Amino acid sequence: MVFFDSHAHYHDEQFEADVDELLSSLPEKGVAYCVGPGVDAETSEKEISLAEKYDFLFAAAGIHPHEASKADENSFQRIEELLRHPKAVAVGEIGLDYHYDFSPRDVQKAVFRRQLEIARKTGLPVIVHDREAHEDCFDIMSGYPDVRAVFHCYSGSWEHAKRILNMGWYISFTGSITFKNARRVLETVINMPPDRIMIETDAPYMTPVPHRGKRNDSSYVRLVCEKVAELRGITAEEAACLTMENAMRFFGIG
Ligand code: NI
Repeated sequence: MVFFDSHAHYHDEQFEADVDELLSSLPEKGVAYCVGPGVDAETSEKEISLAEKYDFLFAAAGIHPHEASKADENSFQRIEELLRHPKAVAVGEIGLDYHYDFSPRDVQKAVFRRQLEIARKTGLPVIVHDREAHEDCFDIMSGYPDVRAVFHCYSGSWEHAKRILNMGWYISFTGSITFKNARRVLETVINMPPDRIMIETDAPYMTPVPHRGKRNDSSYVRLVCEKVAELRGITAEEAACLTMENAMRFFGIG
């Protein structure tokens, strides 16, 4: 069984000591493809240089809402340049985070819009981070119905998921669906149309049960896949297959 991890950050300092050892071991653990999003220009560049070294690894370039207040015209230009790389498959991760509010909300919104313009211009899809900002995020995204999008690490309601799906966008789930306190999101996993669902680790974060608390890596995407299968009443193989097809289509890989 092979998997597509739609979101993992190997630029993260938690991987600094053993990144090459780890990345070389992932294909034999069933990780057929992985997309690594940056969080600013510098980390996006790091993701692209890692993707250059590993066939299974692709990159996304973008400015995360946490880093929005540090972005300037020069950073947007660098992101656009990085997106010309053959292994850059998406703009991301971008969006709004009202949980931490590390950047002022008006700045987060402006930086999000600016990068949706870049996505429109380059024709690449976007990886959206939406934390406790559902209404504003949906409002902004609605101005870009032509931009393909995946809402990553989804934890919202099925009601909200339906609005996202009606726009033609995708939804991706992390190890958070294996957590004991996960309830609301499970309904979405169950009801998702089979052609719009993706899985991811969001490594090094969101480590699935029973490894919760340890560093996450793409090999644990198997546990997310098994949980999706269990909830939907299909085999893990079927879940691996449909999430693989969806991610390949979405990112234009293969
Ligand atoms: Ni992420």
